[in-house]
Order: sequence, then C-alpha cells, then structure tokens
Amino acid sequence: MSKFVLAFDTANETVAVGVGEIAKMPEGLQINPLISQESAAHRASNTLLITQLDTALELAGVAKADIAAVVCGRGPGSFTGVRICMATAKGVASALEVPLYGVSTLDAVAWNAWQNGVRGHICVVADAMRKEVYPAEFSVTDAGVQRLDVDTVIKATELTFEADIVMGDGLAKYSDIMQQFAPLADEALWQPTGIGLLLAAQALINTGAMDISVRAWHGEISAPGIVRMGDPAVLLPVYTRLSDAEENERIRLAEHMGAHVGSNLQTGVQDVIANDNAVRTADIVYRPLDARYVDDVACLEALTMGTDAWNADLVLDELPRKDRTWWAAYYHDELIGYCGGWVVDGDVQILKIATDPAYRRLGIAHRLLAAVACDARDLGATTCSLEVRSSNAGAHAFYEARGLQKIGVRPGYYSDGEDATIYQGPLPVSISDVAGMELMVNQEDEQQVTELEKPLILAIESSCDETAASVVDGNGALLSDVVASQIDFHSRFGGVVPEIASRKHIEAICGVTEECLEAAARSLNVSRVRWRDLDAVAVTYAPGLVGALVVGVAFAKGAAWGADKPLIAVNHLEGHLYANKIASPDIKPPMVVSLVSGGHTMLVHVKDWGNYETLGSTIDDAVGEAFDKVAKALGLGYPGGPLISKLAAQGNPRAINFPRAMMHSHDLRFSLSGLKTAVTFYIQKEKEANRPLNMPDIAASFQQAVIDVQVAKAKTALIETGAREFCLGGGVAANPGLRAAYDKMCASLGVRITMPPLTACGDNAAMIALVASDRYAQGKFADWTLDIKAHAPLDEPY
Ligand code: KG4
Ligand code: ZN
Repeated sequence: MSKFVLAFDTANETVAVGVGEIAKMPEGLQINPLISQESAAHRASNTLLITQLDTALELAGVAKADIAAVVCGRGPGSFTGVRICMATAKGVASALEVPLYGVSTLDAVAWNAWQNGVRGHICVVADAMRKEVYPAEFSVTDAGVQRLDVDTVIKATELTFEADIVMGDGLAKYSDIMQQFAPLADEALWQPTGIGLLLAAQALINTGAMDISVRAWHGEISAPGIVRMGDPAVLLPVYTRLSDAEENERIRLAEHMGAHVGSNLQTGVQDVIANDNAVRTADIVYRPLDARYVDDVACLEALTMGTDAWNADLVLDELPRKDRTWWAAYYHDELIGYCGGWVVDGDVQILKIATDPAYRRLGIAHRLLAAVACDARDLGATTCSLEVRSSNAGAHAFYEARGLQKIGVRPGYYSDGEDATIYQGPLPVSISDVAGMELMVNQEDEQQVTELEKPLILAIESSCDETAASVVDGNGALLSDVVASQIDFHSRFGGVVPEIASRKHIEAICGVTEECLEAAARSLNVSRVRWRDLDAVAVTYAPGLVGALVVGVAFAKGAAWGADKPLIAVNHLEGHLYANKIASPDIKPPMVVSLVSGGHTMLVHVKDWGNYETLGSTIDDAVGEAFDKVAKALGLGYPGGPLISKLAAQGNPRAINFPRAMMHSHDLRFSLSGLKTAVTFYIQKEKEANRPLNMPDIAASFQQAVIDVQVAKAKTALIETGAREFCLGGGVAANPGLRAAYDKMCASLGVRITMPPLTACGDNAAMIALVASDRYAQGKFADWTLDIKAHAPLDEPY
C-alpha cells in the first residue's frame, strides 16, 4: 500500500500544504508530489491550517493513516507563524507516530522556483521584521538547488548581493532596495509552496539527512541515548536571532564598566534564602557574562591558560559583538567559570571555556557549554567546534562524551608549542531534560487505577511560563500531572519574557506530553498509553500570553487531528477554579472563589459549574505582580511571591503601616499599584536616611496589607452572595499567610473553605483536565478553527 508525505508551512503570509506519494526507486525513496496548495494566511494561519490539511488530503485521496512522514517549514519567518506550523506538525507527527522533518522555508521558495524553470544564481529575501531581512543565496541548475550560505539576519539597508534574480516575501517591503542587485522574480514565486516543501524534503532524503523508512523510525538504527532521526521533539525553528530581551541584556552587560561590587543586601536575607539551599550547586547561577567581571575572567584565564590567557580588554571587546555569546557561572556573586562562543557560518567556535579549580566537578563546564550552545542555535548554528591542548586528556573525554569528534590537529598552536586537537560535532544541546527545564512529575496526584474509566482526556497548558500536561479519566482521577517550569530562564530578566516563553514551550511540548502519557500508563499499569487511546485532547486557549498560548493550542490541534479525537478548549481561569476539586472533589456551587495570580486578582461568584459572575477585580496591578515588584524593589529574585512570604514569616506584620487600598470602597474591586509605590517609597526613604532596611519587617507588613484587603473583600462577597463555600486559586494562593487568614475568616462565618494543594496553585494542566472532563460530558467541543485569546473573562463561554 502506498505511503505519503504531508508537508506544510505557515512561516509567513501563506499557508502552503503539499502531499506527496512515496515511491521506491532504485536510487532511493522518491516523493512524487500530488498536491500543492497555497492560500493567504491573513495573519490567521492558526485558524486555517488544520482545515487546509484536511482539504489537501481529501483532494489527494489520502487517509491520515497512510501518512508516513510529516515535513514542516522551520522558517525563518515570523516567529509566531513558524511556531504555529511547527507546533501543529509536532502534534500531528506525535499522534500519527511518524517522523517529523523540517526544511528551511527559504529552501522551499528556491525549490519552487526551480520547479518553475528558474535557473542561475538566486537570492531569496524574507522579511525578518524590524527593518531586517533573512537573505539566502542559491545556485539553481537543472540538477537542482544548492544553498550557498547559511541563515543570517541583516538590516535590509545593509544587504548586498549579486544574483540573477531575487525573490521572497521580503520584496513586499524592500523591492526598491533589492532591485538594485538583481531583477525581481514574478510575485507568484515569492512565497513557499507545497511542492517547494516536498522538493526540499526530497533533497534532504537524497543527502541522507531525512530517513522516512520504517526501519529508521522504529528505532532499529538509533542506539540508546542517540536522538532518533525525525523525532518530533528535537525539531526547532530557525530564529537566527536572540529574543529582544536577551539582545538588550547583551548590550547592557557589555556596557557595564567598573569592577563589580558585592551584593548590597543588608539584613539577613542571604541567610534566610540560603537556608533553603542545602546543595551548594543550587547557589550557582548561570548568566550571560557581565562586563563588570572581565577582570575576574582575566584572572581565571591567567590561572588556567598560562601564556595563552586573554586579558580583560580582549574579553571586553567580545561582549558587544552580535555573533558572540558569552556565559558565566557565579557563586554568591563571584565569577567561577565562563564560556564564550563565536557563531560563524552555522558553526559555533568555542573560544574559551574555564572553571575555577576550586569549583571543578560540579557540572559547571557542562552547563556553560549548553548555555552557549543554546544561544548559538538561536543564532543559526548547527555545529560546534573547538581546540583543546592535545595533552589535556580530561578535556578530550569531556568533549567526546558530548558527541564531539576529533577532526584534526593544529601543530604548535599554543604559545608553548603544544599541538591543539580540533573537535567538531553537533551542538551539545541537552534534549533529555526538556530544553533545560526541570520536569516535575507530580507523583502525589498520580492515582493508581484498577479499571480504566472512559473518557481518557489529555490536557495541555501553555498560557504563561509553564509547559504542562495531564491525563484525567472518566472518574475524574488524575492519572498524570507533569509540569516543566521555565522560571530559571526568566528570572534573570525579573519577569516572564514572552518570546523566551514561546521558544521554551516549543522546545518542551513533546517531552512534556510524552512524559505525561508515560506517567498515565504507569497509573493504569499498562505498558503504554498512545494518543489514539485517548478520547479527547484539551488545551488552554485563553487568557494568557499570545505566543505562549499559540504553541499549546497548535500542538493540541495537531495531535487531536492526527489521532482523530475531539478537541476541547478550556479557559485558564476556570482551570484555577477547578484546581480546588483536587483537594475537595465534592465542592459544590454556589461558591465564592478568589483568583489571585501574577496576572489576575478577582472575586467570582460561582453560581453553578459553568455559571460565573465576576464580582470584582483589580483596577491596576494583580496581587502576584505586586509581590514580584516589591521583591524587585527589595533586591530579591523573581518570582517574588515565594521569597517575600518566606521573609515575611520572620518579620513583624504590624511594623510598618502600609496602605490598604480600596478597603472602604464599598465594592469588590482591588487596587495594588498604590501599595507597591508606598513600599518602594518607604525603601527609598530609609535608604536616604542611611537606616538599614529591615527586610523581614517590610515583607511582613506589605504582605499583611495585601491579606487584610483580600480577606475583607472575600468576606463581603460571601455575605453578599450567601454562598457557603469558599475556595481560591492562582499562584498567590500558595501564600501561607493568606491561606491562614482565609481559614480564620471562613471559620468565623461557618463557611467551608477549600484550597488547592500547593502544587496546584500555580499553573498546571491537571486543573485544565478537570474542566475538560465537564466539557466532554456536556459534549462541548471546539472545532479546528479554534484560536487563542489573550484576554477572556472567566464567564466567557467557549
Ligand atoms: O498562577 P501563577 O503561577 O501564574 C500566573 O498565571 O500568573 O502565579 C504566579 C504568581 C507570581 O506573581 C508569584 O510571585 C506568585 O504567584 N506567588 C506567590 C507565592 N507563590 C507564588 N505570591 C505570594 N506568596 C507566595 N507564596
Ligand atoms: Zn495562572
């Protein structure tokens, strides 16, 4: 029976879909294109893509079950467009259990030109937004298309090239500039097409970079620990630049002059927080190298590199360069290691890597190399190379363990005449631990089930900085609850960076859902739970960060479509409400729920499940936001909530009288920005007066001001609605002071209180799965046009 390839791309303003039939030829597998279908995306490829896939398969007369491989465009293009394509593709390939391969969107444009008879030296220029373009040059002959350079990004006004013809969607904005260098191709050739994607895939097959034989996919070729070719988990977009936050950080860090000064925290905070860290490695932080530390780098260089040591000026000169990435390890603000890389033509050359001898064997070099490799990957590198002293056996073993191979020797490379051994290999980016994120499998929630109750629903949550998945059965038993938190990647920016969040979601989504299915299998005591064993796929579609939501929604749609299961759309806030069912499955409306998180502060009257009335919400900052901002003002880390509550436990909540905003506003609205300002003002005043800050007292007093208002308003809500049940949700619901105060208030009213377990206060997918159970029972499903929504109230019905 014939097998087929499904290819698609939504990197830019076109939804391109191709379907090809796989034929076995003497020279190897051949994809014969059947369908090439293109339509305008109108900035809504997320709503269009799945329907387009259905149409293409129908036109080709191909059943999903006969798809043997999925191919998707990796960009470069609009970051969101590329992620919609790739997340959908990851979902489809995972559910169909077939390999996924990526092709460059620019290659697809070039191959489409080839198909249309264009020959010669061509340049494809794609729009990279912000006055930049992605140019790529190709040599196109009868024999095919050959790429002449690697992906880069450059200011449109700085681009020069020589070519016979230029094409690409960058011409829509920059045709005036580009036609100075080459004649413009017909507009029909500017976008990728289905056939272009299929031909680009064929080129990968011909070079051995793509293997769609069953043998390859079922793991006969790959050894344990080696990435299986075509594994949907490992495919990532081509970005060719860092996120703005990282780029700005680089500029800022490179500018900082003067040696660093130790932390200026004043009273006992270090101790309070440090008590928590039993392991010393937990105190090591990894950040891009800060120019204030270049003297420390020079010292370590002198110590470890002898006469080949770099001086501070050499290092300083590196930091502002766009094609460099330098990372450092710090222990209590002391530099203890660093690693620098230079991205040239798709390869990152490791310029320097060193660890303070006092801190060896803590995995520091490994973490530093991984951080440099991650940045390098985002800058377009696919390989890594470096030189190491031929006599340094430890280093050789270190690189070989990371998959690098000796490719040669540079005689007399070092100043003392020693040879350098050259290593090269794929980027040493760790994939086993879902993109460097810690995978938390919430064992407590895993319930051993003797007899499976249908329906089995897998839910996905990706609205902010947690990638999460959970499986629930027909009895509402949570069979698995997996969360990968990105906090480490955001904390150095003092808050969630949306672009980084989106990138991390797409890196983690396969690993998280795979682990979730495996955990569900353990609960069910079966060897495996597959996508096809599920009865529905659910996903958070609102509210949250657009780029983050998009990844979860596109992946869920792809997986549901691939597995032929219905799709369920869940409101994140309703999820936080349902998290209370984990602690008390029997809670019953009417209830009042307080939702307090980094993005929300509201009191809601739950008249019935699905029938909600928002009684009041914040008119400015959310509670969690206030905790985070106050923590920042106190020089603590991010997220601030847990740090403040820990400090507060040691302070006097009555020490400072911070304002209780809107306490007497006679409504249920909140305001927190004034409180945050009052705390900041207080800190400033104390500093000016040269008085040491009593951090625990400030934290406790701030927290008390928050609690007093929250509790008073919740009490009013309970009295006004007459509800006999109270519950809460959101990250701030983990605050022990707040929990205790609510407990007391509810006891005084004789109202039953339910609180989610601490693990279910923050974002998770178990809560989404519980909502999904109800939707399934009600037969409320979403269709393939489901899109994300940044804002949606709890009471908005889907
Ligand atoms: O629900 P969540 O995980 O994410 C959002 O949807 O926002 O909430 C995160 C927020 C952060 O602002 C964090 O500082 C806060 O919850 N938070 C806390 C505590 N733990 C987390 N706030 C106060 N006390 C805590 N113990
Ligand atoms: Zn949340």
